[in-house]
Amino acid sequence: MPLQIVRNDITKMKCDAIVNAANETLLGGGGVDGAIHRAAGPSLLEECRTLGGCKTGEAKITKGYNLPAKYVIHTVGPVWQGGSRNERALLESCYDNSLRLAKENNCESVAFPLISAGVYGYPKREAFDIAVRRCVEFLRENDMTIYIVVFDRDSFLESGKYFSDIKQLIDDTYVLENSDTTSVMLEREMSTFSTQLPCASAPIEKPKNISPFGFFSSADTSAQAEIPITVDESFSQMLLRKIDEKGMTDSECYKKANIDRRLFSKIRSDAHYKPSKPTAIAFAIALEMNLEETGELL
Ligand code: APR
Repeated sequence: MPLQIVRNDITKMKCDAIVNAANETLLGGGGVDGAIHRAAGPSLLEECRTLGGCKTGEAKITKGYNLPAKYVIHTVGPVWQGGSRNERALLESCYDNSLRLAKENNCESVAFPLISAGVYGYPKREAFDIAVRRCVEFLRENDMTIYIVVFDRDSFLESGKYFSDIKQLIDDTYVLENSDTTSVMLEREMSTFSTQLPCASAPIEKPKNISPFGFFSSADTSAQAEIPITVDESFSQMLLRKIDEKGMTDSECYKKANIDRRLFSKIRSDAHYKPSKPTAIAFAIALEMNLEETGELL
């Protein structure tokens, strides 16, 4: 079958190319980007560094290194901002440009994740619909086996409404254990730093800028400028401070976070407002916070 929907971890797909839902730096990230870089190994990042980034909607190709796939096609999907910022056309061009590159490199099979349907917030149903339409359009003129790989439960259920025969090669437990949620990322940071801590016999000096989770910040503490952590700063105060620091406007921030304007004004007006964790994480992603900043916000 030229077009197949499978529920799987894309890093396990044995096909000529897998597509990465990257960001414009091409220097890695979370989600499927993180999974692919982890599975491919450090050589992938080294090659990505030579590419000079990638514009939204475009695609670039590298080797697959430790992956079963021969190639990785990196494409950058649009961040969903409500649908009026040319998101549909940009997402369609992600698929078109990736398929063009796969064909130019004589790939007989290629696997796509649902581009932009994770961190970038594209509504899953529309994201899936665009993926299917662009692949079907390509297959009218070309011979290739294309897999659309769904991963999280919502995408799996959504795609199940369109396709009855979806091969499920992973289950929810696997997804939970292999998803890049902030707690998993923080845990991974913790385990990395716990191995780098000086051996127990040497007296451990208390680090200057310990993060609220009690572990060292990801940068080298000696090189890192002192980051004053104002412990009694409320969520609302920290959020507004971060918006200023990132040079964003309030509306840019809440739109990118896909947060309703009314909720934002509630947070803004109530210094002691306690948001839900998904709301806090949505803001952290919109503000492109690093792990430590996200930890502080949480
Ligand atoms: N295999 C297949 N699909 C996966 C995997 C995986 N191992 N991990 C995540 N996915 C799915 C998500 O469930 C989602 O449906 O990939 C889809 C895209 O989600 P993201 O990886 O968050 O990608 P995107 O929404 O395009 O956001 C891109 O996130 O990770 C960062 O560096 C990346 O900044 C970029 C942004």
